[in-house]
Amino acid sequence: MLYIGIDLGTSSVKLILMDETGKIQNVVSEEYPISFPKSGWSEQNPKDWYDKTILGIKQLVDGFDKTQVAGISFGGQMHGLVTLDKNDNVIRPAILWNDGRSTKETDYLNTVIGKSNLSKYTANIAFTGFTAPKILWMKENEPENFNKISKIMLPKDYLAYRLSGTFSTDFSDASGMLLLDVEHKCWSKEMLEICGIREEQLPTLFESFQVVGTLKEEVANEIGLSKQVKVIAGAGDNAAAAVGTGTVSEGSCNISIGTSGTIFISGENFRVDPNNALHSFDHSDGKYHLLACMLSAASCNKWWMEDILKTADFSKEQANITKLGENDVYFLPYLMGERSPHNDPMARATFIGMSMDTTREEMTQAVLEGVVFALRDSLEVARSLGLKINKTKICGGGAKSNLWKKMVANIMDVEVEVVESEEGPALGGAILATVGCGVYKGVEEAVNTIVKVRETVYPERELVEKYNNRYQKFKELYPALKPVFQKLQVE
Ligand code: XUL
Repeated sequence: MLYIGIDLGTSSVKLILMDETGKIQNVVSEEYPISFPKSGWSEQNPKDWYDKTILGIKQLVDGFDKTQVAGISFGGQMHGLVTLDKNDNVIRPAILWNDGRSTKETDYLNTVIGKSNLSKYTANIAFTGFTAPKILWMKENEPENFNKISKIMLPKDYLAYRLSGTFSTDFSDASGMLLLDVEHKCWSKEMLEICGIREEQLPTLFESFQVVGTLKEEVANEIGLSKQVKVIAGAGDNAAAAVGTGTVSEGSCNISIGTSGTIFISGENFRVDPNNALHSFDHSDGKYHLLACMLSAASCNKWWMEDILKTADFSKEQANITKLGENDVYFLPYLMGERSPHNDPMARATFIGMSMDTTREEMTQAVLEGVVFALRDSLEVARSLGLKINKTKICGGGAKSNLWKKMVANIMDVEVEVVESEEGPALGGAILATVGCGVYKGVEEAVNTIVKVRETVYPERELVEKYNNRYQKFKELYPALKPVFQKLQVE
C-alpha cells in the first residue's frame, strides 16, 4: 500500500508518496507566499496551504495506482493561529510561528500571570510566536474578529479539517499553543480562562499516529482517491521530522536547519527546563521532548544569497569557503527577533568584525557559522541540564550543504548522522500514516524499520578547538547588543 506524508512548511508544502517499507515513490513540492505586513509580523493565507496541498496530492499520485493509497498524515509548521467563523470561513490570515507582534501580550502572560504559573499550567512560558499570546492580541486589537471565532486550529489541522471534516489536533503540535497541559495531555482550564476562550472552540486531541477520519467524499472525488483513505492526526513539523530521522529514544537529538533552526531532544519521561529556555512538549511517539527553536536559520542564508547577493547559486558561493574556524566576521542571525534561548522579539541581525580586507566569502561563511553558533547557545542550555549530546541527526534544507553539516559537527562538537531520506517532516508524516493504518505496532517499530543512517560527519579536534575559541567571542555579542536592539525598536 502507499502512504502520503505532507510537510506544511513556511515557504512551501512538500509531499511524499511512500510504500510500507519506507521506499519513497514520488516527491512533489508547491510554494506559496508569505507576507510581512509590518516589521516582525508574518502571515499566510490558509486557503493557499489547502489549494497547494490539493494540487500537490494530484501531482504526487499521478501515474500511480490510486487504489493503493491507504493513509495521509502531516508535519506542519507549528504555533500558527488559524481562526474560523461559524460557517467555517477563515476569519483573518494565519499569524505564523515567527510573528513577533504579541510582545505586549507575551509580557502580560510572563509577568502578570507569571512564568511559574504558566509553567505549572502548560510546562512552558510565553513566547511571541506561541498561539495563546496571539489569541490575546486578536482579542485586544481585532475584537470583531475575535468575537467571530468558532474554531481555533493549527496550520496542519486546517488541512486535516478540510480533508476529513474532523476538527482535530495532536499533542505534539498542541503543546506549542500554550493552552495544553503538556504533562497530562489535556487542555488547561486556567489558560482557556486567561485567553477568554471555551473548550469547544478548540480541536479534539489525538496522538499523532491516531486516525481522525477518512477523506470527505467531495475531496476524494477531486483528488481521485478512495473515500476510505485514512487521515491520521500528524504532528508539529519538528516532532514529525524527529520521526523522519529516527529521533525517538531517550536522549536522542535531531537538528533541523530549515526556515527555523531547531534542536529536538526526545525523552521517555516528562521533563521541564527550570528556566523554560527550552520548550517542554509532547512527542509524536506518545512520549515527550525538549525543543529549542531559533526563528531564522536557513532563511538567513536565503536572505543573504537571494535578497542581498542576488544569486540563486548557493553552492557556488560556498565553494570558495576553505578557512573554517578562521573568520574575523561574525553574524547574529536574528532577522525575525529570536526565540531560543534569548526570547527577544526586539533582537535584529548584525554583521560585526569586518575590515577593509573582508571578502564576500567571509561574509557568507559568517552567515552560515552565525546560525550554528546561535544553535549552540541552545545546545549549551541543554548541556547545562545534564543532557549528554554527543551525536545528532540532521535535516532541513540546510542539511543539504556539506559545509553547513561540517560546521554543525565542529561548532557543536557532535557526530552528525545524515539519514537516507532528507524529507524530515514529510517522511515523518508518511511514517505516522503507516502506524495509523496498522502496518507497524508503534512509531518506534516503524522508525527502526524505515529510517537508515547514510553518512556520519565527525568533529575534528583541531577545528573544534578553533571554533570553541570563536564561540566564546560570539556569545558575548548578543548580551552587549541587547540594549541597542531595544533602542532601535523604539519608534
Ligand atoms: C518550533 C517552531 C518552528 C516552526 C517552523 O517551535 O516554531 O520550528 O514549527 O515550521
